[in-house]
Amino acid sequence: VKVSVLCLLPQAVLSRWACVRACPASCSCTQERSCSVLCDRSSMAELPKEFPCEASAINLDKNRLKFLSERAFGTLPSLKSLSLDHNNISFITPGAFKGLSNLVELKMAHNEYISYLHTRTFTGLKKLVRLDLSDCNLFSIPDRIFIEQIALKELLCFQNNFRRIPGAIRGMENLTHIYLERNKIEAVAYNSLLGLGSLKYLNLQENRINVIHDQAFQDLVRLENFYLNDNLLSELPRLAFKGLTRLKMLNLGGNQLTNVSRTWFSDLVELEILYLDRNQLVNIEEGAFENLTSLITLHLNSNNLTTLPFPVFQPIYFLGRLFLFKNPWECDCGLEWLKDWMESYKLVRDVPCASPSSVAGLDLSEVVFAKVNGTCIDPAELNLTTASSDIASTTENRFNSLISKLLQQELREEIGNGTESLRNGTLLDSEEVELSGVRGQRALADQSFFCFLVLIWDIFLLKYQYVKLIVSVICKEQQQ
Ligand SMILES: *[C@@H]1O[C@H](CO)[C@@H](O)[C@H](O)[C@H]1NC(C)=O
Ligand SMILES: *[C@@H]1O[C@H](CO)[C@@H](O)[C@H](O)[C@H]1NC(C)=O
Ligand SMILES: *[C@@H]1O[C@H](CO)[C@@H](O)[C@H](O)[C@H]1NC(C)=O
Ligand SMILES: *[C@@H]1O[C@H](CO)[C@@H](O)[C@H](O)[C@H]1NC(C)=O
Ligand SMILES: *[C@@H]1O[C@H](CO)[C@@H](O)[C@H](O)[C@H]1NC(C)=O
Ligand SMILES: *[C@@H]1O[C@H](CO)[C@@H](O)[C@H](O)[C@H]1NC(C)=O
Ligand SMILES: *[C@@H]1O[C@H](CO)[C@@H](O)[C@H](O)[C@H]1NC(C)=O
Ligand SMILES: *[C@@H]1O[C@H](CO)[C@@H](O)[C@H](O)[C@H]1NC(C)=O
Ligand SMILES: *[C@@H]1O[C@H](CO)[C@@H](O)[C@H](O)[C@H]1NC(C)=O
Repeated sequence: VKVSVLCLLPQAVLSRWACVRACPASCSCTQERSCSVLCDRSSMAELPKEFPCEASAINLDKNRLKFLSERAFGTLPSLKSLSLDHNNISFITPGAFKGLSNLVELKMAHNEYISYLHTRTFTGLKKLVRLDLSDCNLFSIPDRIFIEQIALKELLCFQNNFRRIPGAIRGMENLTHIYLERNKIEAVAYNSLLGLGSLKYLNLQENRINVIHDQAFQDLVRLENFYLNDNLLSELPRLAFKGLTRLKMLNLGGNQLTNVSRTWFSDLVELEILYLDRNQLVNIEEGAFENLTSLITLHLNSNNLTTLPFPVFQPIYFLGRLFLFKNPWECDCGLEWLKDWMESYKLVRDVPCASPSSVAGLDLSEVVFAKVNGTCIDPAELNLTTASSDIASTTENRFNSLISKLLQQELREEIGNGTESLRNGTLLDSEEVELSGVRGQRALADQSFFCFLVLIWDIFLLKYQYVKLIVSVICKEQQQ
């Protein structure tokens, strides 16, 4: 039994030089404020017989340690931090850490042969605050394994093979951080996270979660950062996040959600960042964002959204950043407010239009919304249905976007100085106009509008050959 006699003496008796004097052969020891023992990268297959008894930190990373016997480190009452990352540990004898009664941090990450831990593995570690078991090969851990670790705050278990949230964490009211990302967890049961009233950070990203029970998160009243992204969620309980009033960041990206329910976020008054990207959202219920009064950033990119009704968005109108790219937006009058908003706040770019066909391929910022009597006219209606029926659809798409581009660029450049109304991004604000042909006689008073109609007419007739030429010729004629 490795109990150094020196270590049983009162700390004051131990002189400063003891740290260096008792340094194990293949390690280096430094005594600055406290005694650190560095034994990393020394191809060690077995632990040294003894460590300096005043050691406060021992680093054994990147060796070839395979086995930890009972009381493997002897009695080291000053040891606060022990690191065994990147070894080849496959078996830890129960009671291996007995004698390390003041250990605060234990790191055993990247030991790919740890697939099993005994209930009494951590016996004696009553002061442990941080435990790192990441990137091992654990499939589960015993429910009572942390029975003595009442001070544990941070548990790192990412990149293992857990298929469920370890029952061992239930009721650990002092835990603040749990890292369980990159496991194979399939569900969050109603009791998986009970009693975690201090938890601030929970990472469950990149698992296989497809079910979340009602009230599964109800005890996480102090949660601030919650990663549920890259799972297999297609729906969430109605009141999934009820009571999480401290939540600041919620990541639901990379799931299979289709609807955003108005009830999900109703309590998240402190939420600043919400990720809903990379889902299959087609619908956001009105009121869904109603209570997100602190929201700064909203990620809705890479979904199946075609529209974002103003009433849905209105409550978060003063948002800082909004991500909308990679959605099949339908750039009709329903999105006119968004274009205005984009122009006013310059916080959004990249809103690609997938429809109507007349603007497909354009960005919303390039779409010109026509107005008649102050009422927006959907871009599709500018396609002059009767005349275009004989044009093949692929041609038609290119053709229509060409019109819109011309409206945007050519008209502004060449005839835009004719009236104020064009500069303001609308064709007409108050004139009465018939759009079905060139018969809107009263509109002819407005040269720019006349040019616009003639332009379209001629494009149809000539199938967009020499478009630029015609535009400029006709418009110059009209203006003279
Ligand atoms: C690590 O341990 C495993 C099994 O315990 C063994 O097969 C492997 O050779 C060891 N690797 C090294 C580098 O010692
Ligand atoms: C949390 O920590 C306090 C103080 O360290 C302790 O008294 C209490 O028992 C701990 N709670 C649990 C559930 O371990
Ligand atoms: C999503 O919303 C649509 C329309 O509101 C509804 O028909 C559909 O059932 C909803 N789907 C889910 C999974 O809630
Ligand atoms: C917003 O919060 C209020 C007050 O808590 C609540 O009555 C309302 O239902 C919430 N809105 C939504 C959409 O849940
Ligand atoms: C979303 O779009 C993708 C690709 O366009 C499609 O495969 C998927 O079925 C769509 N999902 C929904 C819910 O519409
Ligand atoms: C435009 O307004 C005028 C009167 O202000 C009205 O007579 C006319 O019918 C309106 N036209 C359209 C297309 O709404
Ligand atoms: C032209 O627009 C109308 C109204 O939106 C639409 O019903 C029709 O299909 C469009 N025609 C073509 C050829 O796209
Ligand atoms: C307006 O159009 C006229 C004639 O096309 C041109 O000479 C003039 O420079 C234009 N003014 C502006 C401000 O673009
Ligand atoms: C165009 O915008 C200017 C200021 O930007 C404004 O004074 C003018 O009234 C607007 N004209 C119309 C027709 O909306």
